Amino acid sequence: MEYNREWQVKLGAIVLFLSFLACAASDGLGQKTVACEYNRTRALVLVEYASAVYIIDDASLLSWTCSRCKGLTKGFKIHTLIVDVQHCLQAFVGVAENMKAIIIAFRGTQDTSMQNWAEDLYFRELDLDYPGVIDAMVHRGFYAAYHNTTLRERVVGAVQDILQARSDLGVMITGHSMGGAMATFCALDLSANYGFKNVEVITFGQPRVGNQAFSVYYNEHVPLTIRVTHAHDVVPHLPPYYPFSQLVGEKTYHHFATEVWIFRVSIGRLQLEFERVCDGSGDDIGEDPSCSRSVAGNSIADHLNYYGVFLSTEDDVLGLQKSSTGTNTSQMLGFCKTSVPLQRF
Ligand SMILES: *[C@@H]1O[C@H](CO)[C@@H](O)[C@H](O)[C@H]1NC(C)=O
Ligand SMILES: *[C@@H]1O[C@H](CO)[C@@H](O)[C@H](O)[C@H]1NC(C)=O
Ligand SMILES: *[C@@H]1O[C@H](CO)[C@@H](O)[C@H](O)[C@H]1NC(C)=O
Repeated sequence: MEYNREWQVKLGAIVLFLSFLACAASDGLGQKTVACEYNRTRALVLVEYASAVYIIDDASLLSWTCSRCKGLTKGFKIHTLIVDVQHCLQAFVGVAENMKAIIIAFRGTQDTSMQNWAEDLYFRELDLDYPGVIDAMVHRGFYAAYHNTTLRERVVGAVQDILQARSDLGVMITGHSMGGAMATFCALDLSANYGFKNVEVITFGQPRVGNQAFSVYYNEHVPLTIRVTHAHDVVPHLPPYYPFSQLVGEKTYHHFATEVWIFRVSIGRLQLEFERVCDGSGDDIGEDPSCSRSVAGNSIADHLNYYGVFLSTEDDVLGLQKSSTGTNTSQMLGFCKTSVPLQRF
């Protein structure tokens, strides 16, 4: 919260550079490029859902009266709230009439030390063959968090249930950090396995989840994807991408498109924010060297704040507060931390 205020003071002005590009294009030379149209308004809406899903007090989420259930998410009707205590996961599915969409949001990790979590990410291996896709590999922990818990069944069930009555709605999926990784697997699942059309994804500060073959497959099936990265946020740099490792047959992680990088430029005491839409081309699709890869990933603060919205569990409940349902939240967090192999995700 401290950080939020500081952010607002620092933020002298916002200047935008927007590029509007088609979601999939190919130039005449056989060099494939991918860039999805970036709609900033939609990112500003979804970042608020990605923030709200961190709220621990489930009663205030169900009634959509939580401290973050305001602003651009006002009027949201939650259909299903999924709290998987065993695996320390949370997600919700509901309807945003103003977006004409079903919104699915996944919470990021609830580790009290983001630093430890990020450091741990550095060593995650590509240790699972993505089912049904030749050469595609992913990180088992991220995959399992969506596919091997109650989340998949309940999310898909909720979406099908809503669409039965409301076939006019689109599907938008979001998440921050590890929640972004889960959003990825969910979007691919809905698109490739369940045949949903035009699934839209906007993630914030998500880590890499798979290798290049996986990213190619992902882009084919979920082209309407925006992966927002922020300044020096460390997490999009993890697990590491080694540009030349494929030449020697090594496995390496590889992002998918389309990245939108928010970066700062200081002019005297003024901090300006710019946004750049990156696509990359050829083998670099998803790993454009002119976006977040152009700087060092060394900031946790940049990870916790996107568009001025705080993305983590509320500081004030990490301690003493009792939620309105009478749950002792610090107890809940304790449970969460000790019972789950959090590290696994
Ligand atoms: C961007 O998204 C908003 C909110 O969904 C929508 O109203 C607007 O028409 C979109 N803009 C463009 C250029 O597609
Ligand atoms: C899913 O869970 C089962 C049972 O715990 C385990 O045997 C299996 O390896 C898990 N699958 C993945 C992909 O992690
Ligand atoms: C909540 O639980 C923790 C750990 O068991 C305990 O230290 C704390 O005093 C409890 N807080 C309240 C408000 O009951």
